[in-house]
Amino acid sequence: MSNDVTLLAIESSCDETAAAVVRNGREVLSDIISSQIDIHTLYGGVVPEIASRKHVEAVVPCVEQALREAGVTLSGLDGVAVTCGPGLVGALLVGVSFAKAFAYSAGLPLVGVHHIDGHISACYIEEPSLEPPFLCLVASGGHSHLVRVADYGVYEILGQTRDDAAGEAFDKVARALGLGYPGGPAVDRAAREGNDTAYAFPQAKISEGGYDFSFSGLKSAVLNELNRQRMAGEDPRVSDIAASFQRAVVEVLTEHLLAAAEETGIRTLAIAGGVASNSCLRERLETACAERGLTFIRPRPVLCTDNAAMIGAAGYYAYLRGVRSDLALNAEPNLSLGTRERRYHAR
Ligand code: KG4
Ligand code: ZN
Repeated sequence: MSNDVTLLAIESSCDETAAAVVRNGREVLSDIISSQIDIHTLYGGVVPEIASRKHVEAVVPCVEQALREAGVTLSGLDGVAVTCGPGLVGALLVGVSFAKAFAYSAGLPLVGVHHIDGHISACYIEEPSLEPPFLCLVASGGHSHLVRVADYGVYEILGQTRDDAAGEAFDKVARALGLGYPGGPAVDRAAREGNDTAYAFPQAKISEGGYDFSFSGLKSAVLNELNRQRMAGEDPRVSDIAASFQRAVVEVLTEHLLAAAEETGIRTLAIAGGVASNSCLRERLETACAERGLTFIRPRPVLCTDNAAMIGAAGYYAYLRGVRSDLALNAEPNLSLGTRERRYHAR
């Protein structure tokens, strides 16, 4: 009998409906992502109620396609992994309800997965030889965490944002600059044409907070500069502002990650989450790690933004640890990274 573990994974925490089939946590047999960007673009951001309705429409076709492309039938699956939090409650509920019904009817075990556990686990797919311990910077639309990955699914949070998440700051600045939604990729593009030293925006340093982040002061400084230019009747220098803002974010994220490497002596660094697809952050860390002889893991962009393959990777290691969720599994919009094992471990 084979020891392979093949999981169907489902992700619906925000504005992507995603389904994947992943074998042994690292081999992605299929990875289907149905994006809702077009509809949310009309409103300049994610509208939760619309997101939930779109997930309802997309979840069955996504799962069907994931199974078809993987060439796997129900009998070839060993379990179902699903994001159960954090995220938009209505959006999460669609994936969780579907996964419960699917697992129950197919007689398969169910594994609830923390979304950030998923983002970090994307690194295992990108680099098949990667093993803990390593340091991971997780920067997305909802989170900015600096994490010491002590073991599979065992995380020590060294620092986190005190206010806006890094991706949220990108989205808000992009909106003010008229660059649209989603903001991160738009700022990334605009910044390529700009001078990143045109403005000395503040890089928030929190003296007593160790590795904590704060992006709201930077965001306000950008908005104030933009208003000043408009009040003075000037045409806003969009690409210079975008480039200078991006540099300030990238510097803070990079400095924190490198300082944590220095302090902990851990020589493998990784990035994860939507902001990890930022071209400037990737280049800056690539260079810094090469200079210091550190190993640097940067999942390809499609594994940084929301996807289900990463949930299949995290779900696999949870499955091996014996984590099983029952039909009481619920969507938990504020689920914190430390509570999952305690709450979802099977009795
Ligand atoms: O991980 P993700 O897809 O969803 C959440 O879990 O939040 O991250 C989405 C966030 C958005 O804020 C988006 O603007 C940002 O990641 N993002 C980027 C880039 N691509 C996506 N930020 C900066 N540069 C990018 N290239
Ligand atoms: Zn995410």
